[in-house]
Amino acid sequence: MTLTDSLKIVCVVGARPNFMKIAPLMRAFSREPGIKTTLVHTGQHYDEAMKASFFEQLDIPQPDVDLEVGSASHAVQTAEIMKRFEPEMERLSTGAVLVVGDVNSTIACALVAAKRGVPVIHVEAGLRSYDRGMPEEINRVLTDQLSDLLFTTERDAQQNLEREGIDAARIRFVGNVMIDTLLHNRKRCPEPGQVFAAFSVTERFSGSRGYGMLTLHRPSNVDDPQVLRSLLETIGDLSRSLPLLFPAHPRTRARIEAAGLGRILGEDVVLLPPLAYLDMLALMSGARVLLTDSGGIQEETTALGVPCITLRENTERPITVTAGTNSIVGTDPTLIRELFHEILTTGGKAGQMPELWDGRAAERIAADIVRWATDG
Ligand code: UD1
Repeated sequence: MTLTDSLKIVCVVGARPNFMKIAPLMRAFSREPGIKTTLVHTGQHYDEAMKASFFEQLDIPQPDVDLEVGSASHAVQTAEIMKRFEPEMERLSTGAVLVVGDVNSTIACALVAAKRGVPVIHVEAGLRSYDRGMPEEINRVLTDQLSDLLFTTERDAQQNLEREGIDAARIRFVGNVMIDTLLHNRKRCPEPGQVFAAFSVTERFSGSRGYGMLTLHRPSNVDDPQVLRSLLETIGDLSRSLPLLFPAHPRTRARIEAAGLGRILGEDVVLLPPLAYLDMLALMSGARVLLTDSGGIQEETTALGVPCITLRENTERPITVTAGTNSIVGTDPTLIRELFHEILTTGGKAGQMPELWDGRAAERIAADIVRWATDG
């Protein structure tokens, strides 16, 4: 393959957290004269609220190709992405396929590329929860095994990869592209009050007590009605001390409605639709605490210095606990309550910005890809 070929990069996005990661990469690639990109959206996420507003607010170029796969079971969705991506690869002359994160679109496109002998670049490599019950963990392990160039966000990731037999020469610690996006957009986002007004919740949320936020979407938390009921009861209790905003993923809202659980939240938890990026950033920045099972929010709260209570038994992002503001509590109501009240009393752990989360990860990645292509 010639140098010019290897700098023709097909960049893949599919689901909401991918959009925040691709935005700074597309910007950095556009500044490297040698790099030519084609953006493929698999269509894993397709709703206006889950997709369009992100492209618009984050200035992501419109995708060159939309595979429009939509929702399905894991096997069907992954297979459908592969089926639709392969002919596109045949059509496009491709030097490398770049995938981000750990969603089904990530593994599906990495697998198609690897089978065609096209180098795979993985951004956000090496994160491990060591919990194979998470579909994302399976996607992470397999994508990394297929990747030729692996960019990591924290130092522990390197050891995880080396333990799995991946050659250290292919791994680069560059920082966090999701935090590039956060730092780039921080000054562009509205005040929390403007978002309260847009959702007509000013009265309840702009008081001197402040407010907290909740997000939930992991299958392990929302798919079993008993687990979901217990979590929502606890959340309802907490909201009597601090009103909580709950932007709900479509999957979560559907599960709450199907199980008839909306009532147990009470009136101090306000369900919102999925939020546009800048609105979410505005509300997170002003919150006293976040409760979440999202990976991205563990990182974003660390970057913002806002305390985060992670409603999972593990994290693949340990730097958010060791350096940042994150605590892993699982789903035990007593532990959640204790930590929540401790945070309200003490303000939670101070935390610091992890190494290389400086807004320049995408620049480093672009420069590194040029070097990699040049060195053959
Ligand atoms: C996916 C990712 C997860 C990521 C999350 C962020 C995988 C395995 N999971 O989970 O890692 O944290 O995205 O949101 O790739 N739906 C809509 N509109 C949409 C998209 C989805 O209504 O635009 C609903 C559908 O009912 C769908 C369900 O949400 O069945 C789940 O969507 P899916 O993409 O399968 O997984 P997520 O839970 O979003």
